[in-house]
Amino acid sequence: MARIAILTASDKGAAGEREDTSGELALDRATAAGHQVVARAILPDSRDAIAAQLRAWCDEATADVIITTGGTGFTERDVTPEATRDIAERDVPGIPIALALEGLKKTPFAVLSRGIAVLRGRTLVVNLPGNPKAVAEGMDVLLPLVPHIAQLLGDAVEHRTESDRGAST
Ligand code: MTE
Repeated sequence: MARIAILTASDKGAAGEREDTSGELALDRATAAGHQVVARAILPDSRDAIAAQLRAWCDEATADVIITTGGTGFTERDVTPEATRDIAERDVPGIPIALALEGLKKTPFAVLSRGIAVLRGRTLVVNLPGNPKAVAEGMDVLLPLVPHIAQLLGDAVEHRTESDRGAST
């Protein structure tokens, strides 16, 4: 079981003008796979606000995996990948490739998401598009990876602790 946080980037969702269907779907899928959804936020498409929330969750080690939905397209307000880049320490380029390959089986538009996946500390952040269908397809790709991701992140912490101990003695 992993700890998952879900961030929906949507001006209308944050203003209460639209239901957060994509965030709800990500939550349902994560829970059905046996994971714990530990945090959830709906924010406007503001680069600073999204980056601040991602940074806080990563630095407080709130979750193993943060899934964002929305804001990966081409409009000026689509800034989720930029906000994610702002807090990134390391890239995980294979995940967007897997999402695009799987999405391409359903629609050629799958390649139009600019979403990225990055690590900060011991948290993985993955951007999914806002379309509920895309979220469902994205979760189908991600969820089988999550147990191993959680294990790798846990191992990374153990190794760091061991090397820290080694350095101080
Ligand atoms: N990926 C999948 N699997 N299924 C989809 O329907 N829609 C695409 C793309 N990725 C789609 C998808 C479209 S039309 C857009 S514009 C981009 O995601 C960005 O969507 P966003 O702005 O809601 O994040």
